[in-house]
Amino acid sequence: MTDRKRSLSGIRVTGRFHLGNYLGAGINYVRLQDEYESYIFVADYHTLTTKPNAREFSNDLYEMVMDLIAIGVDPGRTVIYRQSAIPKVAELTLLLAMVTPLSWVQRVPTFKEKVRDQPDNVNLGLFEYPVLQSADIIIVKGDVVPVGRDQAAHLELTREITRRFNRTYGHVFPEPAIVLNPDAPIIKGTDGKAKMSKSLNNIIGVTDPPEVITKQVMSMVTDTKRVYKTQPGHPRTCNVCAMYKLFFDDWEHYWELCRRAQIGCQEKKSLLAKRIVERFAPFRERRAELTREQIDEILAAGAVRAGEVAEKTMVEVRNAIGLPPYSQL
Ligand code: TRP
Repeated sequence: MTDRKRSLSGIRVTGRFHLGNYLGAGINYVRLQDEYESYIFVADYHTLTTKPNAREFSNDLYEMVMDLIAIGVDPGRTVIYRQSAIPKVAELTLLLAMVTPLSWVQRVPTFKEKVRDQPDNVNLGLFEYPVLQSADIIIVKGDVVPVGRDQAAHLELTREITRRFNRTYGHVFPEPAIVLNPDAPIIKGTDGKAKMSKSLNNIIGVTDPPEVITKQVMSMVTDTKRVYKTQPGHPRTCNVCAMYKLFFDDWEHYWELCRRAQIGCQEKKSLLAKRIVERFAPFRERRAELTREQIDEILAAGAVRAGEVAEKTMVEVRNAIGLPPYSQL
């Protein structure tokens, strides 16, 4: 093990990696692995809060790991594992729960959202979600956590729990810092309304075949105030134009054409589709070479590495709390 600072992030099993995941956090997974000792895991325990049978999302889990590697997460430099391969994280969750006031968890906005989204399945796991997330992070003593903006409240809670733990039992953990991508603009899904999410069927997949990407982009909702091509457009409020900022250096030129009604929405979309297809070609190529057997090996190796780190941390934790060491059980 090196003495480099550690970066850690997790991702729930939702299916394919999409443009929102990539811009929000994925780019940073790739950037940080040069400088930090990096860990990325697939949060299968967390996924159980909404999908109670892990067998049913096992296929999606493989897809996600393949996509992670496709976008440039390098198993040679980043420890990639599945959360449930480190059962000690569940023990740490339980211990963190003892220093987490109920009121802190009650105010987490994502819990309220979930209560709204799945009123028939408001389980305790959902409530405990951010405590488990805290355990994920600090069990590897993560210093930085690359995530999307939507995770800010969870990270704030993690920092509070960490401080409380350290104050109660002595300094065991670094306080993890959130790492956002400042360039991640507010890109919405293809519907132009909500953020990208597989369940809303409004995503652009980063490793999808060209024809799928093209279809997704061509289905994008554009400037709703512009009915005819001859009318001037409003690039500031158009989601397609927002994407131009990311994919075209000369986006201002296109915004101006749009304002002057010299380019239509369809044409803008087809240029954008072509550009995205080109930009992500290396991801598709890398992904096409991966096999399930390789993924199994990568996850097995990752579980060993992450398991060692977790074991070491938990030895310290049990000692700090005054629980008997594993060696005496
Ligand atoms: N809650 C995160 C999400 O929905 C996933 C996650 C679980 C995570 N554990 C984590 C992210 C630990 C960062 C660190 O995207």
